[in-house]
Amino acid sequence: MHHISNPSILYFGTPVVLVGTTNSDQTYNLAPISSAFWLGYRCMIGIAAHSKTTENILRSGECVLNLPSVDQVEAVDRLALLTGTSPVPAGKLAKGYSYEADKFKKAGVTPLESNLVKAPRVLECPVHLEARFVSIHPLGAETGIDQIRSVALELKVVRVHLAGSILSDANPDHVDPNKWKPLIMSFQHFYGLGSQLQPAKLASVPERLYRTFDTESAKATH
Ligand SMILES: Cc1cc2nc3c(=O)[nH]c(=O)nc-3n(C[C@H](O)[C@H](O)[C@H](O)COP(=O)(O)O)c2cc1C
Repeated sequence: MHHISNPSILYFGTPVVLVGTTNSDQTYNLAPISSAFWLGYRCMIGIAAHSKTTENILRSGECVLNLPSVDQVEAVDRLALLTGTSPVPAGKLAKGYSYEADKFKKAGVTPLESNLVKAPRVLECPVHLEARFVSIHPLGAETGIDQIRSVALELKVVRVHLAGSILSDANPDHVDPNKWKPLIMSFQHFYGLGSQLQPAKLASVPERLYRTFDTESAKATH
């Protein structure tokens, strides 16, 4: 039996990403988001149009998508309700946000330099995806340009860094899903994934068949 319902949010469960960006004065910003998916080496993120992170990505053309595992949940939670925008916008003030200039320090995580972009990686996260901005898609634009509150950004992953702890023993270019424990946000709460349910028919497709020009060009040459 289903009921017609009208939930305030439709956050059904997506991975948490810590987006590292560089401010105009070359200091670092770090923001948790959870609206993200990947197709090949392209990533779409859903983000507030006027957040510091969006401003930084549009100005610098780059960011790092740092993926925390369940082990970093406390650090992620310390970043909640913080913004790198000063003064804090009215909409965020109403939700209890405050300004924080040094979110790495506040979260207790360590910035690492990237290879190809100026934006920071987060040492404690097992996955670092250096990425460049490709395009912006306003959400809800049909309601009028003044109404746009969120945008989807297409990002191209240009370099991938993976902790040894999540790699397959046999192949360093393969993430072992039995070792990777993504942090999931579902309806504003943190979860991990359960264990594997059953063998998947899709897994009969060799992963190498998904490689594209993007994949090859993200290879380290040194
Ligand atoms: C777990 C978690 C998930 C979040 N997911 C999103 C999201 O998907 N998109 C978004 O715009 N904000 C999301 N937020 C809120 C942002 O972190 C917030 O807008 C923050 O102010 C961004 O930082 P900035 O203003 O310094 O860019 C999330 C916050 C938390 C704690």
